[in-house]
Amino acid sequence: MFSRIAPRYDLLNHLLSLRFDVIWRKRLAHRFADILARPDARVLDLCCGTGDLALALADATTAYAASKSICLMGADFAHPMLVRAREKTAGTCRRLEFVEADALSLPFADATFDLVATAFGFRNLVNYAAGLRELRRVLAVGGALAILEFAEPRGALFRNLFRFYFHRVLPAVGAVVSGHAQAYSYLPESVARFPIPSELVELMERCGFGDVAFESWTSGIVTLHTGCAPP
Ligand SMILES: C[S@@+](CC[C@H](N)C(=O)[O-])C[C@H]1O[C@@H](n2cnc3c(N)ncnc32)[C@H](O)[C@@H]1O
Repeated sequence: MFSRIAPRYDLLNHLLSLRFDVIWRKRLAHRFADILARPDARVLDLCCGTGDLALALADATTAYAASKSICLMGADFAHPMLVRAREKTAGTCRRLEFVEADALSLPFADATFDLVATAFGFRNLVNYAAGLRELRRVLAVGGALAILEFAEPRGALFRNLFRFYFHRVLPAVGAVVSGHAQAYSYLPESVARFPIPSELVELMERCGFGDVAFESWTSGIVTLHTGCAPP
């Protein structure tokens, strides 16, 4: 499904979110400025799609890091998404590497990364606990996990408006522009099935993460979940 929608993925992302997706990824990157300021930081964009979070992290890196030896990688299992990610970074000075991999079985050694961040990708894993355990494995001690996901907005009026948009308008526009109706009806369905923030906090703690917290952005349309890998 993700491979099929890759050609129009960025266009639809920006169109359907009114470019809020760009702001959300930038905000996530700036939230981890302390890690991105380390000259030797190792950072993974998990379920990177066409690489927009990796690019936001790279831009934040050049803003913060004194040295450019930082290691920034993206991983995704949909090859056409990675082709686009590589096209977007080719010819730029950003040093990014994109790897074809399943989030549930990553080709990285234990304790490889100081930051694993994922935007709108984690929700799609078939087993959240297995995914969290795998992310815990590849994080170095003290490393941070950031999961950015859609959620149900706060406030009855806004929630109802959002539901109408998310369940009616978005699938219709997505179907016409992408030509793949199923992918854009899957989106609201998968968000409805996703654990609410307090449930994900509990699961992250059970899977070995410390300092687990979440914050709601843009009236609760998205939630940033954070945790760290304790010793
Ligand atoms: C909605 S897109 C998000 C892409 C990107 N992170 C962004 O911010 O636009 C979800 C991505 O997760 C990837 N994905 C889903 N399950 C995965 C898995 N088990 N392993 C690797 N990638 C996965 C899909 O291929 C897709 O590119």
